[in-house]
Amino acid sequence: MIPAPLHRHLRSSRYPRSSRYLRRILLALTAFLTVAAGALTTATPSQAADQRPCDLYAAAGTPCVAAHSSTRALYAAYDGPLYRVQRTSDGTGKDIGLLTAGGYANAAAQDSFCTGTTCTVTVVYDQSPRHNHLTIEGAGGAGGADTGVPADALPVTAGGHQVYGLSFSGHMGYRDNATSGIAVNGQPEGMYMVTSGTHVNNRCCFDYGNAETNNQDTGNGHMDAINFGTECWFAPCSGSGPWGQADLENGLFQSDDGHSKNNSNTGNHAPFATALLKNNGHNHFAIRDGNAQSGGLTTQYAGPEPNKPGYSPMHQEGAIVLGTGGDNSNGSIGSFFEGVMTSGMPTDTADNAVQTNITSVGYGAPSRVPPGTLTPGSTISLRATTPGYTNRYVRHQNNVAVDSVTTSGSAAPDKADASWIVRRGLADASCLSFESRNYPGDFLRHQNLHVYRQPMDGSALFRADATFCPKPGKNGQGTSLASYNHPEKFLRHYDNTLYVAADGGSDVWDTTASWRDDVSWAVTQPWTA
Ligand code: AHR
Ligand code: AHR
Repeated sequence: MIPAPLHRHLRSSRYPRSSRYLRRILLALTAFLTVAAGALTTATPSQAADQRPCDLYAAAGTPCVAAHSSTRALYAAYDGPLYRVQRTSDGTGKDIGLLTAGGYANAAAQDSFCTGTTCTVTVVYDQSPRHNHLTIEGAGGAGGADTGVPADALPVTAGGHQVYGLSFSGHMGYRDNATSGIAVNGQPEGMYMVTSGTHVNNRCCFDYGNAETNNQDTGNGHMDAINFGTECWFAPCSGSGPWGQADLENGLFQSDDGHSKNNSNTGNHAPFATALLKNNGHNHFAIRDGNAQSGGLTTQYAGPEPNKPGYSPMHQEGAIVLGTGGDNSNGSIGSFFEGVMTSGMPTDTADNAVQTNITSVGYGAPSRVPPGTLTPGSTISLRATTPGYTNRYVRHQNNVAVDSVTTSGSAAPDKADASWIVRRGLADASCLSFESRNYPGDFLRHQNLHVYRQPMDGSALFRADATFCPKPGKNGQGTSLASYNHPEKFLRHYDNTLYVAADGGSDVWDTTASWRDDVSWAVTQPWTA
């Protein structure tokens, strides 16, 4: 048996025939060594702990038939590409792979390839031997052709490394309509994705999973995808979401009746969330979810198929969709870090082992860059230096940037709101951007000269509005942050609210009185590391 990544390269047409022959010999040799190593791997429990989600599902008899991630390998032996980026400047593309076999994404390769320009993700590779690669989705029954996600919109930490998630802003999606091994016509399957509970909306349909092969709504039961968002399709729902739901076509189901029968399922707000769906294709489906940073999975529903025509048996068509509905309904937003689909319906025990592996990744944990400095990867807080206001820190509150008294006695969510991860400038790598500590992929940006926390949408305007260039503090203390696209205006607090303000100008917040103090910030240790 030839391991998946090697098999892929073997089949790759990128290599001329003669070098392919040479590679064949090398690969056969490597395959032998890998299989031998695999035999050793299963021999000791400590090495078994290194198993990734697809190793765990394979061991449980429900192997992955799709494995997509921009952050890490989903097989311990995988050493191929994770995704492909395309440069805006010259249209050239580059595959982004791993730092080590079975490890984490080589984000530095993306950063250097995309220096001085911007990149979008054009392919999300399937790590399974099935080659079910996802490419940018074309037009469908409910939406025009999509675009790829900006490659740098969702920097996160995984395994202590800075990697990128995929941040969908609407009208973005990926698909594969000609797959191999994906369930069709009532075959059993399972799937999960690691997504985010802080980047969601109530539009249709942030999905990952089985969909129609023609981008059209072809009827009940023709989809079987995990959905994550705040769209309550069948009222009543409990709470305000976001929920993990089953998109089985013509409905986002929380039960066989559609609506929620589980009052405790009010939504999953975790910055990193696991959402899982499995379906035996005939008379049973289950939805489970959890916090991808810690803890186990909760079964939110496990029971009969929807009690409407068309769902028992299911009629899956076997395409794979990511980020839209089956008919390319593409109004939804969402985040994607990793996901797999299995052949056969996994056991809860296998799911639980996968969740344990997911939480071991440490998504969103502090990076290895020391905190409290203006270095990309460092987590900081920004304290006012204006006399009388030096206990105030830049935070977001109801999506607006304010400066607010923060102390060691402040509540944990308030501390997290007042903590920011320093990133390379989204518009200019020689400047900086500030990502929210508790809303991954959301950045501090100005708009109409007010300042907000908003999800990065990939637009040139957002990039510019979210980029600040550090200068020596105008009052001789700390740092002043010049707006990249309004360089005469600096990040300022005025009347407890954040603005970009000039030293004298037409807006009240441009007043010269205490301008130098108000635009000077002490960079401190973060309230939330
Ligand atoms: O089932 C919900 C959505 O309804 C599907 O994703 C889409 O195909 C249809 O519009
Ligand atoms: O900024 C969004 C949220 O609004 C913050 O987390 C919270 O402080 C407020 O409710």
